[in-house]
Amino acid sequence: MKAAIRAGGFLALALSASAAFGHGDVQPQPVDTGGLATLGEAWREENPYRGDAKAITIGDSGYNQNCARCHGLQVVSGGLAPDLRYLPLGKEGDEYFVERVRHGAIINGMTKMPAFEGVLSQEALWAIRTYIESKHEE
Ligand code: HEC
Repeated sequence: MKAAIRAGGFLALALSASAAFGHGDVQPQPVDTGGLATLGEAWREENPYRGDAKAITIGDSGYNQNCARCHGLQVVSGGLAPDLRYLPLGKEGDEYFVERVRHGAIINGMTKMPAFEGVLSQEALWAIRTYIESKHEE
């Protein structure tokens, strides 16, 4: 009996956590960028890790924990947010990517995408960009 009550309490907690998640609240998951070159404060204009296998692995985990709930697992969008596989490769896509991830997307006063500046490191965000590029489609 006691066990059932405790299990019920846990379920209620788990449900309220996922409800909060579904409303676009920022629930950033830390990304361990150990092993990548550190980049300092100033934002790079171009992806410093392009094609780097370690960055892809780190970015895979960072993306799937912080972006996938809107942009889809493995970068395949379910329609909630743009499909990032089609983001242009190279510097053109980099500029667009940085602008969006730093500032998010606030449309008519509604936060459609949270800003990640100061939430995830520059290293983590470029690793995510590297992973997204590895999934690119024309
Ligand atoms: C709460 C949902 C949500 C989360 C989490 C989220 N995004 Fe977004 N993102 C959106 C929406 C919605 C848009 C489209 C905004 C618009 O209409 O301009 C968008 C747009 C973008 C764009 C521009 C794409 C385009 O084609 O216009 C990029 C790049 C992007 N997001 C990257 C990311 C990355 C990287 C992460 C994780 C670090 C992330 N987003 C997390 C919802 C989200």
